[in-house]
Amino acid sequence: MVCSRAAVFSKGGIKIRKVTLKNIIKRQEVASILGDIAPVDELVITDPGGKALIGNNNSGKPLPGCPVKLGEEVIGWVMGGEKAETLAKLLSYLAVQELEKRSLARETLEKYKEISVIYDITEKLAASLDPKQVSQLIVGEAKRLIQADNISVMVIDEDTGLYSILAASGTEYHPKIGFQPGKGIAGSIIASGKGEIVNDVISDPRYIRGTIKISSMMCAPLKIKDRVIGAINVSSAQPLNYTAEDLKILSALALQSAAAIENARLYDRLKDTFLTAVYTLAETIEKRDPYTGGHTKRVMQYSLAIGKELGLADGDMERLRLAAILHDVGKIGIRDNILLKSSKLTLEEFSLIKMHTIYGQQVLKHIKYFKDIIPGVMYHHERFDGKGYPEGLRGEEIDIIARIIAVADSYDAMTTDRPYRKGLCHEAAVEELKRCSGSQWDSDVVEAFLRIDVSQTLGGGKLYG
Ligand SMILES: [Fe+2]
Repeated sequence: MVCSRAAVFSKGGIKIRKVTLKNIIKRQEVASILGDIAPVDELVITDPGGKALIGNNNSGKPLPGCPVKLGEEVIGWVMGGEKAETLAKLLSYLAVQELEKRSLARETLEKYKEISVIYDITEKLAASLDPKQVSQLIVGEAKRLIQADNISVMVIDEDTGLYSILAASGTEYHPKIGFQPGKGIAGSIIASGKGEIVNDVISDPRYIRGTIKISSMMCAPLKIKDRVIGAINVSSAQPLNYTAEDLKILSALALQSAAAIENARLYDRLKDTFLTAVYTLAETIEKRDPYTGGHTKRVMQYSLAIGKELGLADGDMERLRLAAILHDVGKIGIRDNILLKSSKLTLEEFSLIKMHTIYGQQVLKHIKYFKDIIPGVMYHHERFDGKGYPEGLRGEEIDIIARIIAVADSYDAMTTDRPYRKGLCHEAAVEELKRCSGSQWDSDVVEAFLRIDVSQTLGGGKLYG
């Protein structure tokens, strides 16, 4: 089955009506010109098949006369005595004018569509800074605009030089496969940097048979200036007649998508650099106390596992990650003789240790980016029953981020060896969490912690992700 361009644009497509003689002579100004030139009773105008449009053709078959032509096509006949030839020429001229007008209208509509595609996409893509999410949005837009069974967004991995699929719809989804530039149709299009339509995929010598049935396809490279960073592929299982206009729309989408993906990737890199700096800061502070080695990382990992279990939104997960890394940043303000004291702290010393929550807030408040994580850092020693510090907040007055870090921090503190005591085993620490669930800690958070596999949580050892 071959689909027309109009069918390809069936979701809001541009259809141009055929130019017919009937439509031309129906126009009021044309009717009046005809009346001026030839008396109506002498005039017979028919369609190409001889059916009378003006006057009477009683013979029921085309009469000899002058043809009205649109290019090489005869679109009707004029019989009107000596003026027939003039009228036929005039109507031919009007038909050409009409065709040009409609073509112009179609071009304008297509341009409008292209511009509106760009506008819509720019707005939508600007809302996300996650490369995968951006790619999923692109796939969604391509699906809305172009008829296809499979759509995918491929992006180059700068480390391996391979392309991998970031998002796809239909059956074309191999997230773990790396594609080589230059291989296959998409690979060669990517290497050339020029979008292409391949309506007969099977006959194309570049075609590498895969598991998906593809008959027709288009590929538009994602380019930043002259650098290709990936491609959008659309394909259909049945043969389609993708046109230059279809490729134009896909290329407009690719242009916006490339910038959005590049931005998201740059943001990702910046975020990684930032997180590394933050983590290094936290580790430097932690190193003052050799007995707490790895505490920051473990608290972050437990916290993220709890957050995931509780179904926290992406934004809260990011807050949680940073707050967990920096939860004890305020210890920078505690003197070594107190922070590193191996014997029991006096009440006064303990009140100084408690100050690390306030110091944390004071350190972070100067950095705008950290504003949202201050509650997580400042209140990680509050208790659910209101008996914690620094403010004695209770229940849900305590930010959920702080309630999560409280459980993660306490579990890690309980299970880690200290100079003055041996760490508890996992089971004993769990018993303690259960015993104080609802008093010291939020019972929902404790329950979420108990559902996670602690050894698995630490297994990955990843700082990010
Ligand atoms: Fe703390």
